[in-house]
Amino acid sequence: MRERREELSELARGLARTPKTVSSRYFYDERGSELFEAITRLPEYYLTRAERGLLTRIAPALIEEVQPRALVELGAGSARKTRILLDAMTEGGRAAVYVPVDVSEDFLLETADRLREEYPALEVRPEVADMERGLRLALRPPTPCIHALLGSTIGNFTHEEAVRMIAGLTSGMRDGDVFLLGADLRPGPGKSLEALEAAYNDAVGVTAKFNRNLLRVLNARFGTDFDPSRFRHLATYDTGKTRIEMHLEALTAHAVALPGGPVISFQEGEKLRTEISCKYDRAAVRSLLGQAGLKMVRWWTDERERFALALGAMTSEGGSR
Ligand code: AVJ
Repeated sequence: MRERREELSELARGLARTPKTVSSRYFYDERGSELFEAITRLPEYYLTRAERGLLTRIAPALIEEVQPRALVELGAGSARKTRILLDAMTEGGRAAVYVPVDVSEDFLLETADRLREEYPALEVRPEVADMERGLRLALRPPTPCIHALLGSTIGNFTHEEAVRMIAGLTSGMRDGDVFLLGADLRPGPGKSLEALEAAYNDAVGVTAKFNRNLLRVLNARFGTDFDPSRFRHLATYDTGKTRIEMHLEALTAHAVALPGGPVISFQEGEKLRTEISCKYDRAAVRSLLGQAGLKMVRWWTDERERFALALGAMTSEGGSR
């Protein structure tokens, strides 16, 4: 876990930048996690359904090919999609190890208990870890192992951060282990720019609530006095940067106090960037995996090419990194 003091100085640095930024890590307090769950059920937010459908379609072939004895899932959350893989892995009562990894311990232990009941053949070994901080598992999972990063979580990281994170992960991988990545795709024939932006601008305003809730989290955690009602939600696709950028735009000029730090002033119309959500294509994922020392060995998309799953394996010359 990060030191509070370190977090506060990171927050101050982000707010001193132009444009102002804040880490999207703070979206997920209890309310934020509930709001995100609600987002995944919105008609506009196709990502979750597209990935689940795709996973269901490919799971049997994936399990057949990899013959995994373990699944390590980063940012496991409620592990809803995971069940698709766990079902295929434990079919016929086959033993397997599941290592859900998440920053939120309460949520993680709850999920672990539930899965132990549901899957008697499964050994569940939850681990609390901050993905951004690199991953050191306390216990080595048996091999072959699938390391999974699903749900377009990778999209929140810049290219450099994503490479670093995947490389950190693969340093613990052995021959036969694979990395399964869920990535949201750029606009294309089956996915309009409008549909992509609508996923982050839902008609009933859940995403706007989710975005503004971040300010409440900051207030509770750092004692800032952000007034969420003074900001409006904005989410647009940056075609050049191939990512959705989510902002909170100040409706009026005002100041926000940062305890022990400077007063932060907002101009009318000034934007605070709260999230990036990077979008990929096949070449971008291949190059991302390549830079992290992995070879892309499989690439699957849903029928409309809205979402992709990619499988990375250790390169034969790898392992020395
Ligand atoms: C959880 C990071 C995958 O980027 O689509 C949803 C978060 N933000 N709506 C995403 C999110 C706004 C989501 N991820």
